[in-house]
Amino acid sequence: MRSDWEITLKRFGQGHLLDHISPLDSESWESFQSQLEGIDFPLIQELFEKHGSSDEWGELASQAQPPAAIRLQDNSEAFPAPDEARARGQHAIADGKVGMIMVAGGQGSRLGFAHPKGLFPLGPVSGRTLLQIHIDKLMAINERSGATVPLYVMTSPATHAETEDFLKQNHWFGYPQDHSRIFCQGTMPAVDAATGKLLLADDSQLFLSPDGHGGMLKALAESDCLNDMMLRGLEQVFYCQIDNPLAQICDTLTIGHHILAGSEMSCQAVPKRDPLQKVGNIVSVNGQTLIIEYSDLPEDVARKTNADGSLMLWAGSIAVHVMNVDFLQRMTRHADALPFHLAHKKVPFIDETGTLVKPEQPNAIKFERFIFDLLPLADHAIVVEVDPADAFSPVKNGPTEATNTAVTAQQAMVEQAKRCLLQLGVEVAEQTAVEIHPRLMLDYERLSATLAGQSTITSPIYLK
Ligand code: UTP
Repeated sequence: MRSDWEITLKRFGQGHLLDHISPLDSESWESFQSQLEGIDFPLIQELFEKHGSSDEWGELASQAQPPAAIRLQDNSEAFPAPDEARARGQHAIADGKVGMIMVAGGQGSRLGFAHPKGLFPLGPVSGRTLLQIHIDKLMAINERSGATVPLYVMTSPATHAETEDFLKQNHWFGYPQDHSRIFCQGTMPAVDAATGKLLLADDSQLFLSPDGHGGMLKALAESDCLNDMMLRGLEQVFYCQIDNPLAQICDTLTIGHHILAGSEMSCQAVPKRDPLQKVGNIVSVNGQTLIIEYSDLPEDVARKTNADGSLMLWAGSIAVHVMNVDFLQRMTRHADALPFHLAHKKVPFIDETGTLVKPEQPNAIKFERFIFDLLPLADHAIVVEVDPADAFSPVKNGPTEATNTAVTAQQAMVEQAKRCLLQLGVEVAEQTAVEIHPRLMLDYERLSATLAGQSTITSPIYLK
């Protein structure tokens, strides 16, 4: 068996993988062998050989136009009125047709937090974790609609055990057990950027990392969650990512527009703050909606402007989507057709002498699938603009960065709460943190009652 592997690995230029395996250690050999069995060597070889050789994105980008979108300030009659869309979305939720997928499989390497991001204590006053913030929002939606939205949380081998334990210890923050599931995505190996050789994490372990949020499609099918959705009669799923505490969970406006337009996959968009903002660019190429990642969009294209000076490719993706369940089901047949994106990263590895090397510079290529590559495969896709102040403030970076940090996300949450209070005539003193439970955000009468006549807030408070 071992000699078979020697032949196979040498054929793909990966003979070094057996260099450190002790011939006598059958237990490590067994586990290493099962890792090797999970690797598609021809695919890795092809991806590595192809990388850098084509400028597919550059070509697409040169043809990119802004997408047709339901804009916030659009008073035309081209799209249903917001109230009509909201009512339709609300009806779908109340009717039990909508589920929710939260992806939480990323390694969160930029944040530098020692646990999965979902466990990050973010609430500016409450200290609630990202996981709880999202679950509280979904429970508020349930309360308002009278239905229970099934919740599917995706993890990866890097985040699964801790996330699952944390949710169990906290009884899923009250989320009904029969409406919540956790499922785990797959992994991909990393290769040395110069040679294409797979990297070892130790003598008998490949370095494996989550296969990107696009791995969701395969994981949904393999975990039986997709089947569960169909058995429950769900028609749409609302997709969002764990690291955006402002995500408008199960936003009725977006769901409603999605249904009324007969869309198979829809995206929320925000106007980009600047041409090079690090968000996916939602564009239209030959009438097809697609997303070009910021790193793939040439700078000259990103900087193109309209006659009035505004950005031509204005639509930034905030990774919030509505997808039809039957679309996902159809797409699972093509799960392996989603392209891999290559990222240069720093990956610690065991060198030929068996020593662990921690590189200072990116040394490796990681392969990831992105969920938004499903967009061009949808029969119809729509884009709904939302206000970033109410919808997007991701936690990506550690505290030394200026943007997309825990502090900027907390500020955004506090500003949102202040705007909400101002509508009720309540002023909040400067530098004072306020946080509002989502149940009260959705119900101003209840919020008003909680305030019990206060017209100013001068010390930090969590209104719940
Ligand atoms: P990012 O691509 O920002 O990655 O993921 P990340 O893991 O959070 O952070 P870095 O890049 O390592 O610093 C955006 C969202 O997609 C999820 C993440 O959990 C996050 O919610 N994701 C990412 C997955 O679920 N699986 C993946 O393989 C990658």
